[in-house]
This record gives sequence, structure tokens and C-alpha cells, in this order.
Amino acid sequence: MPIESSHSPSLNTQLTRKDKWSLSSRIFHWGSVLLLLITWLLIFFRDSGEGYTFINLHKAFGVSLLLWMVARFINRFVTRDPVPIAMSKWQKGVSHFVHFALYLLLFAMPIAGILMSMYGGHGVSMFGLFEIPPLVETNRSTARFFNDVHVDILWPMIVLFTAIHVGGALFHQFVQKDNLLARMK
Ligand code: HEM
Ligand code: HEM
Repeated sequence: MPIESSHSPSLNTQLTRKDKWSLSSRIFHWGSVLLLLITWLLIFFRDSGEGYTFINLHKAFGVSLLLWMVARFINRFVTRDPVPIAMSKWQKGVSHFVHFALYLLLFAMPIAGILMSMYGGHGVSMFGLFEIPPLVETNRSTARFFNDVHVDILWPMIVLFTAIHVGGALFHQFVQKDNLLARMK
């Protein structure tokens, strides 16, 4: 199959290496999805268990996601993008904007969480292995501000942009049938 600068492999076509995201990009993508899922699910258990076990785990997984995103960001610049898929201009624009927003949000969310904890006078226990100390002076109103940012602003934005993103992926798969999903598998 000839490699063009932009093309649309059909569902029956075998994808070549240039059509797919690199193995590391695929691992980083699905690893972020998994870490996000775990971090979110832990919130449902916050009132069970001894003391703050589950909120501490939420914090440790959230910080792990931040570190994962730093590595993913570096990986983004050292690996090649797949050959672009044929798409209308507006669709390309929306997809780039949504991807960019998701990257930003996955950095901003854990940072807001860390600042909320630190200004509240708490450190972060990384799975009991070591402790990140609160690096700032306790300030209740600043802690409340970052709590609001974490819970009331960034979280709904993550939900919204993820819904648009997954909706878009399903649209490609079942309406446009352009095999976009296989690029990330
Ligand atoms: C991308 C990573 C993260 C996601 C998706 C996330 C998501 C959430 C969500 C959905 C809530 C509950 C909101 C509600 O009450 O309805 C929450 C609460 C909380 N998060 Fe995170 N979080 C992340 C990272 C962090 C980090 C890194 C920390 C701290 C180091 C943290 C600390 C907290 C705390 C202390 C609460 C409880 C706040 C409250 O009860 O008002 N989070 N988080
Ligand atoms: C079931 C859920 C998901 C599916 C099926 C999915 C599917 C995909 C696909 C097919 C691509 C590649 C698009 C292309 O080739 O142009 C992609 C890219 C991307 N996805 Fe997802 N995704 C899912 C969940 C998520 C979540 C939860 C996030 C983050 C909150 C996310 C963030 C991203 C980002 C940032 C990119 C762009 C990659 C880059 O430019 O490095 N995805 N996703």
C-alpha cells in the first residue's frame, strides 16, 4: 500500500507501521487512561477503610499520573506521529484542540491536587514508600481555592473533553469507518 501524506485506510486494510502510533505512544496513552480511571475510582471509597487510606491512594496515583504525563510529554517529541488520516479541516481542528486540552488538563489536575494538599498543610505519601513534604506555608484560603479548581473546574472539564474525545473515536469507528481506533491499539 503506498504511503501518502494523508490517507484513509479502510477497515479491511492492514495498517502499516507508519499508520500507527509508536508502541511507546500507545503504552503512554492507555497507561494514562488506566491511571486516570484508578485515581477517579478511589474517590468512591474515600469514606471506607482506616483513616485516609483511600484519599492517600488517590493522591499517590494522581502524582503517579503527573509523572507519567511528564514522561509522555517527552515521548511526544522523540517519537514520530503516524501519517495523518484524511479528515475535514474542522474535524482536524477540533481533534487537535481536544487532544491539547486533555494534555493540559492531565497536568493541571494533579498539580491543583498537590497544591490543595500542601496549602492545607499535608504532604503526599507515595504508597508508604516515601513522603513528599508540604513545600509551602499552610494557607487555608489558598488550599480552598485549589480545592475548588480541582473539584469544580478541572474535573468537569476532564469529563467533558473525555466525552468529546471518546465520542469522536466512536464516530470514526462506527460512522466514518476509517479505522482510526486501530492506530492507537
Ligand atoms: C489527574 C489526577 C487526579 C484526578 C482525575 C482527580 C480527581 C478527583 C475527583 C473527581 C475528586 C472528587 C471530587 C468530588 O468530591 O466530587 C477529587 C478529590 C480530591 N483530590 Fe483529586 N484527582 C487527581 C489528583 C489528585 C492529587 C495529585 C491530589 C493530591 C496530591 C489530589 C487530592 C484530592 C483531595 C484531597 C480530594 C478531596 C477533596 C474534597 O474532599 O473536597 N487529587 N479528585
Ligand atoms: C475508551 C477511551 C478512549 C479511546 C477509545 C481513545 C482513543 C484514541 C485514539 C484512537 C487516539 C488517536 C487519534 C488519532 O490517531 O488522531 C487517541 C489519542 C489521544 N487520546 Fe485517547 N482514547 C480514549 C481515552 C482517552 C482519555 C481518557 C484521555 C485523557 C483524558 C485520552 C487522551 C488522548 C490524547 C491526549 C490523545 C492524543 C495523543 C497525542 O497527540 O499524543 N484518551 N485516543
